[in-house]
Amino acid sequence: MSKIYLSPPDVGNIEREMLIDAIDSGWVAPLGPHVDGFERELSYYVNAQNAVALSSGTAGLHLALVSLGVGPHDEVFVSNKTFVASANAVAYVGATPVFIDSEKSSWNMCPQALEEAFIAKKRAGKLPKAVVCVDLYGFLADYENIQRVCRNYDVPLIEDSAEALGSHYQSKHAGTFGDMGVFSFNGNKIITTSGGGMLVTANDDRAQHIRHLATQARQPRLEYHHLEVGYNYRLSNLLAAVGRAQLSRLEDILDRTTAHHKGYCKRLDSLPGVEVHKGDHTTRPNYWLTCVSLNKSCPASRDDVIEKLAAEDIESRPTWKPMHMQPVYKDCELFGKPLSKEIFETSFCLPSGSTLTSSERERICDIIESLF
Ligand SMILES: Cc1ncc(COP(=O)(O)O)c(C=O)c1O
Repeated sequence: MSKIYLSPPDVGNIEREMLIDAIDSGWVAPLGPHVDGFERELSYYVNAQNAVALSSGTAGLHLALVSLGVGPHDEVFVSNKTFVASANAVAYVGATPVFIDSEKSSWNMCPQALEEAFIAKKRAGKLPKAVVCVDLYGFLADYENIQRVCRNYDVPLIEDSAEALGSHYQSKHAGTFGDMGVFSFNGNKIITTSGGGMLVTANDDRAQHIRHLATQARQPRLEYHHLEVGYNYRLSNLLAAVGRAQLSRLEDILDRTTAHHKGYCKRLDSLPGVEVHKGDHTTRPNYWLTCVSLNKSCPASRDDVIEKLAAEDIESRPTWKPMHMQPVYKDCELFGKPLSKEIFETSFCLPSGSTLTSSERERICDIIESLF
């Protein structure tokens, strides 16, 4: 039996054909018709005015902050429970992340903690330059309240939707709740280009500036002429071709991840002290990874489950370790109850990719059940 991974890439003939088309066309460059097409199709899919294809989600977060003029001596509010890239982008521009802890229902940024942080910072005479709010595991944050708080203080909101492409609240897509939104196409994401990202925004000028920054800030002249520091952050035409193929299959991929989530709920929610994570601000989550929490009445611990699955060659992992527990960010401020610590210590992610079969999922459930 081969190893079962959390979320392996799901690529096949359509991706191969598009990639060969890109090579045959001669556009082996970080620009070309597939880059334009991928931007057009993704912006249409999420209903965003503009999309800029980039080499990674991290590059998107970095450029979002650069475009807002965030720099040394500035602070940026960031979700505490996240993958480290959300905070690293703040460090890249020399600013300081201030972490905002999770709310219970979605595990995302708590709007009350965000408001407390704004009140404290206003009193201290230093508002943050931006807020980076993450949509964990495909579940949206409470944007009704988060947008309200950010608007009250007139601070831009960057939505880190690296994990949430395809999720929406009513008809509004993940990535379109902030002034800018960022998606990742890393190898483990809901769709992949092996590595890549996309920034979306309703602001035409900002999109144009970010596209310019991502291409070494090169002026449109024959000789190489630069007015500001740029970056080599564009997505290649070859990878954009793979992205277009993946995007054309996204709805099918979502049907599969949704079926896995439902299958896990059916088997695991009835076990004592076990709860499959479900956020409540998302009409349709993408169910990128199904996560499970164990409460105090559960006879098994998070690590018992992970070890038992590993012994059967099945990958599972703790959910993201909060930023305030990371040695690299240990001196940063944190607002809100450290609920994310408790979530981290009691929850784990299960294999959820679109290539997982229902019989593999049932076997995973059998193994977990055997611990009860
Ligand atoms: C929440 C979050 N933000 C940012 C990133 C960074 O994206 P990338 O790996 O494309 O740089 C990731 C994933 O890798 C992520 O999960």
